[in-house]
Amino acid sequence: MEDHFLIREHLAGPDQAAVSETLFTIGNGYVGVRGLLEEDDAHPTLDSTRVHGLFNFIEGGVSPDLAPAPHWLGLTIEFDGYRFGADTSQGRVLGAERILNVRDATLTRRVLWQTAGGSVIRLTFERFASAVDQHVLVLRLSVMALHGEPQMHISGGIDTRVSLASGFQHWEPWETGSPAPDAVWVRSRTLQSGYELAMAAALVTDLDAAPALLADGAHPQVAYSAQLAQGQTITITKLVGLSTSREGGNPLADALAALERARQAGYDALYYAHRAHWERVWEDSDVVLEGDPFLQRALRFCLYHILIAAPPHDNQVSIGAKTLSGAGYRAHVFWDTELFMVQPLTLTQPHLARNLLMYRYHRLPGARAKAKANGFEGAMFPWESADTGEEVTPQWTPPDPVTGKRIRIWTGELEQHLTSDIAYAIMQYWHWTGDDAFMRDYGAEIVLDGARFWASRVEWNAAENRYEINHVIGPDEYHEDVNNNVFTNTMARWHLDTARQVWDWLSDRHPEQAAALGRTLSIDTAALDRWQTIIDRIYIPFDDERQIHIQFDGFFDLEPVDVLEYQPRIVSLPGILGHEESAHLRVIKQADVVMLMALLGEQVADQSVQRNNWETYYPLADHGSSLSPAMHAWVAARLGRLDLAGELFEHAAEIDLRDNKGNSRDGIHGASCGGLWQALVFGFAGLHLTPDGPMLDPHLPPGWERVQFAVYYQGERHTFKIEGGDVSIERG
Ligand code: BGC
Repeated sequence: MEDHFLIREHLAGPDQAAVSETLFTIGNGYVGVRGLLEEDDAHPTLDSTRVHGLFNFIEGGVSPDLAPAPHWLGLTIEFDGYRFGADTSQGRVLGAERILNVRDATLTRRVLWQTAGGSVIRLTFERFASAVDQHVLVLRLSVMALHGEPQMHISGGIDTRVSLASGFQHWEPWETGSPAPDAVWVRSRTLQSGYELAMAAALVTDLDAAPALLADGAHPQVAYSAQLAQGQTITITKLVGLSTSREGGNPLADALAALERARQAGYDALYYAHRAHWERVWEDSDVVLEGDPFLQRALRFCLYHILIAAPPHDNQVSIGAKTLSGAGYRAHVFWDTELFMVQPLTLTQPHLARNLLMYRYHRLPGARAKAKANGFEGAMFPWESADTGEEVTPQWTPPDPVTGKRIRIWTGELEQHLTSDIAYAIMQYWHWTGDDAFMRDYGAEIVLDGARFWASRVEWNAAENRYEINHVIGPDEYHEDVNNNVFTNTMARWHLDTARQVWDWLSDRHPEQAAALGRTLSIDTAALDRWQTIIDRIYIPFDDERQIHIQFDGFFDLEPVDVLEYQPRIVSLPGILGHEESAHLRVIKQADVVMLMALLGEQVADQSVQRNNWETYYPLADHGSSLSPAMHAWVAARLGRLDLAGELFEHAAEIDLRDNKGNSRDGIHGASCGGLWQALVFGFAGLHLTPDGPMLDPHLPPGWERVQFAVYYQGERHTFKIEGGDVSIERG
């Protein structure tokens, strides 16, 4: 039977190599390693390895980047002087496959290669980032000469000649050294932010050969030469220790110690411990969808990518929009994390969700500074966030390579709904986990200070006798600087209302904490009354006649366009019609009103208004953002539009596996991945909380034979199975 935990390489050609690199990323929540080929030292950037938190800003850049770590995957392999690789003058590939096994987070590559001299060699590469010892990376090569007895020469080390596509260099010149005859190390510090990183690598082998050090300054290596016997398998294992100053110790000493631990353990012990860890992870996180092998695989692939990016031991970092699998969006953290990626973790791996929420807690000073700089109170979280918690959204795009034109980016100033999105993720976490200590010590402060922001942000319109929020960007980023975006206004109202409830809970259960927060955040009766007045009087744009929400003031004055007429395509509509032109059209980048319905459901409107909203806004959606299809699938499933829901779900599932946005080379679309899980669990399965605990209200498309998943509710595991119209729940 086909194993639906395996992702096989199915793309070919130079254009798609970069997509495969993204898909085949391995990681352990500390480091992510793209699927670069071991022998490819002519790779344009050698940008394989990214470690959480190492942001650095280069003058002339548009905002901080995650500095790429040294490339540790490289191996130069020769047989009788013929170099293994793509160069057909050296030899030819007789067969090759790459398989990512998401069950044990391991990438395997098998190649059958014939040298130009006629020897036939089987090479098997296996790599993983240890889930048990996060400072350890492992790559093993097994070689067997099937025909011939060639002289093998192999070298590998740590390549520091890494850059981003921008060409920026983020590191001081690298220092190098060798702690042992078969090992090398490198260390440096980021130029502006001063993070130190050290990496140490040993090349160990069962070859009967002595190691030689190759001291190439930028690329220190260890080399071996030996004659292969026909039919004999030899292994060469690269063990890597990695550490940074973010962990608080001495990076070089720590990297060397990690390398030593890896040596002591050896490949097999490292692998078995790693695999046992992943078995436990899947016990909680697996989702079964029988009846559609592609969707089954896509769900696991997506969960895997979130799991390898979520930091298990660090609550000072968060997951960027492209996880740790690519340079896209500079690893900056958006609402993608809280509204898309955190939910699956909240319900299946709550300790990981907690770390991500704590990242925001630690960044409250940045959010307060942003509010203050803009003349507001409380905490206004930055649209894009990196290490410091300051706003890091670039103001301009880099110049277009052809026209030289830059586009002004307004989201850093105007896209403000993130503050409520974070509050939403906190409330979900609290309701599902019952983690009162988190709420008392951290969550409440974020929610309350965010409410203070909204209370200072709203504007009183005396003529209309209502509060408004003007000059914003909603989730639909095609329309900038709009007034009264219904998503933003409704979420702000929800946030204020929620904050009042949180305040009541805190005052009741933890009066000392309430008193302390009341003092620091100036929350008193007058403030609470004002919140209530805003809740009662904030404008939620609604068309009484048509019984629909209005996405923002003037939305229906925009010029109509038949979005469906432009299908099929992977380019967004502004990509075809122009950025400025599209701003005047009635086309939506992504779920906006629909997103609101996904999050708040009946709290936004009854079923009939929700249906009207769907009929109005779905046909206008361009899905110009990968965040869109999964949210639409979720709502369509809940509204019983199963035909469309199935199609949209498939669209979301294809985003990276079939590169259907055309930009998977930049990294995994982490939000779409988290959205896929939510569309299945909250949409199709209809998981919701009731006073009696979690319940389902399933609507499965025809052909889905069985859906099964587990979630934690207040510490207890609930396993749900939907099969043939029956639902079963197993607790404990
Ligand atoms: C989307 C945003 C998203 C960002 C990062 C943009 O294209 O419109 O909603 O946060 O990408 O994924």
